[in-house]
Amino acid sequence: MRDEIAFVPTMGALHAGHLELIKRAGELSSQVVVSIFVNPLQFENPDDLAKYPRNLEEDTEKALAAGATRVWAPLYEEVYPGEIEQISAGLIGELFEGRHRVGHFDGMLTVVHRLFEVVKPTYAIFGEKDFQQLFIVKKWVRENNLPVQIISVPTVRDADGLALSSRNVRLSKSERESALVINRALSTGSREEMLATLEAEPYFKLDYAEVIDEESFEIATPQTEFKRGIVAGWINGVRLLDNMAMGSNR
Ligand code: PAJ
Repeated sequence: MRDEIAFVPTMGALHAGHLELIKRAGELSSQVVVSIFVNPLQFENPDDLAKYPRNLEEDTEKALAAGATRVWAPLYEEVYPGEIEQISAGLIGELFEGRHRVGHFDGMLTVVHRLFEVVKPTYAIFGEKDFQQLFIVKKWVRENNLPVQIISVPTVRDADGLALSSRNVRLSKSERESALVINRALSTGSREEMLATLEAEPYFKLDYAEVIDEESFEIATPQTEFKRGIVAGWINGVRLLDNMAMGSNR
């Protein structure tokens, strides 16, 4: 137990969702490492990278209060000291989120690989909020037999149902109201109802809304046991992403 590290990789701007991951880490080990690194490789949109909220001091306090025993905020040169060993997410990295954010999952896996290399965690904790990310990380760990256990934590939401996200601070009050359409859409039972709900909100610009098989990440069929609705889109230049278990999986 003493040498086991429970690791929570983040890009900072910590909110109650991140803190839930840190608390879970504390249940797994007495050594909880939280990394804070805004990874340029996974931003395909320079504007999104430039606007990504940064507040290291506040983040460090929050992480420590939630149970982190070490907060690691490396410089770019520490994470990528030499030639970057690019990791490919494969075909699944080009679907859904990856189709709208080309290269995002390759950049994400590349940094996770580097962070794991330095931290050498026994456990790494990820949120269900980024369901495709979680799926890709688990698949990569499994296929490469990496000595780390991936632990997932359910999505933390505000009382109105909006999934917590570092980007939510960029929404005005009325935009936030519009954003609730995502939660309403995911609470329906089918892709058709999801689409109809989303289309009824004029300020929401859809990237995709699908129902997938949780076990394969392929489009769900009537035989699929574990279905999950996945939605992504935009409200006034702010990208929003969410997912929810559907059907008998709820
Ligand atoms: P970031 O967006 O900061 O998220 C860090 C972790 O917090 C991820 O595992 C994410 O799924 C989880 N998370 C975010 N919002 C959540 C919520 N509302 N409820 C539960 N968990 C939530 O994801 C990344 O950073 C990066 O891609 C990273 C893995 C750090 C690699 O750069």
